[in-house]
Amino acid sequence: MNILKKRGAKHSSFTDVEEADGDKTVHLSCVADCLTTLRKIPDGSIQLIVCDPPYNINVAEWDDISNYVDWAALWLQEVERVLASTGNLVLFGGLQYQNEAGSGDLLSLVSWVRQNSSLLLVNLIIWNYPNGMGAQRFFSNRHEEIFWFGKSKKYYFDLDAVRTKLDPKTLAIYKKDKRLNPENLEKGINPTNVWQIARLNGNSKERVGHPTQKPAELIRRIVRSMSYKGSTVLDFFAGSGVTTRVALEEGRHSIATDIDPNFLNFLDRQLSKVEGGDRSSIDAEFLESFDGPIHPAFKS
Ligand SMILES: C[S@@+](CC[C@H](N)C(=O)[O-])C[C@H]1O[C@@H](n2cnc3c(N)ncnc32)[C@H](O)[C@@H]1O
Repeated sequence: MNILKKRGAKHSSFTDVEEADGDKTVHLSCVADCLTTLRKIPDGSIQLIVCDPPYNINVAEWDDISNYVDWAALWLQEVERVLASTGNLVLFGGLQYQNEAGSGDLLSLVSWVRQNSSLLLVNLIIWNYPNGMGAQRFFSNRHEEIFWFGKSKKYYFDLDAVRTKLDPKTLAIYKKDKRLNPENLEKGINPTNVWQIARLNGNSKERVGHPTQKPAELIRRIVRSMSYKGSTVLDFFAGSGVTTRVALEEGRHSIATDIDPNFLNFLDRQLSKVEGGDRSSIDAEFLESFDGPIHPAFKS
């Protein structure tokens, strides 16, 4: 990696993927249990899994799971199977919830992955937000953790797609440092593993009504850097449908399902925010194999 870095070259996985133009993409969405979805997906077919599971702290009806780790083990096994060799998994959570999550939390999931799978931990990303609840008996929490695992050492990573642009003054200062590659500086700097992105406020225009909706900006950085145009992004705890929206905008195919029947209404609202007309199409065969309701936009 260091030699690549000196040459300003990309990660080796770039040689293993074939980018498509991403103009016409397929988006599958329906109401389904996570295991139903996963068991229909062929081995090695998914580039990126955005996984934001129930936190097991009772924020909603779906958020109270007995035997949390045993349950999670069932879908984590499938995750490893469906990921492509260049694939990535991002696992969201919040360590601050650990006392409330009686039968398991993010740490217990991460520990399960490390002990029972061959997925490689690439980064722990800290999602740092300026807005949140105040506290009196401890420091107010202002971050959540996102664990990034690669399926193999050839995991795909496109740093250039997410570099932070430098303003002209800072760029000129950085360019004086001979240790830094001027060509890369022009492209922008590594955004690091601490991401400052605001949470969605209650009155945010982006909100579609889901209680734990993630900002599109956060999902976009993940999708741009860990998948490529024409590859497939999977979200089987899709919630508000934000992953479908971002995949559509970024020229990736997507599969997004959730057990909550409201998912299709949330998704409607997400898709109404997508500019650029109809860029989606239907995979009728895959959809027909589901028993649950399917988003009307994806019916033939
Ligand atoms: C933390 S939320 C995901 C939020 C989503 N990332 C977003 O930004 O909108 C977890 C979701 O998991 C869903 N869920 C809970 N149990 C499930 C199951 N067994 N199968 C599929 N989805 C489930 C819930 O309905 C909820 O929408």
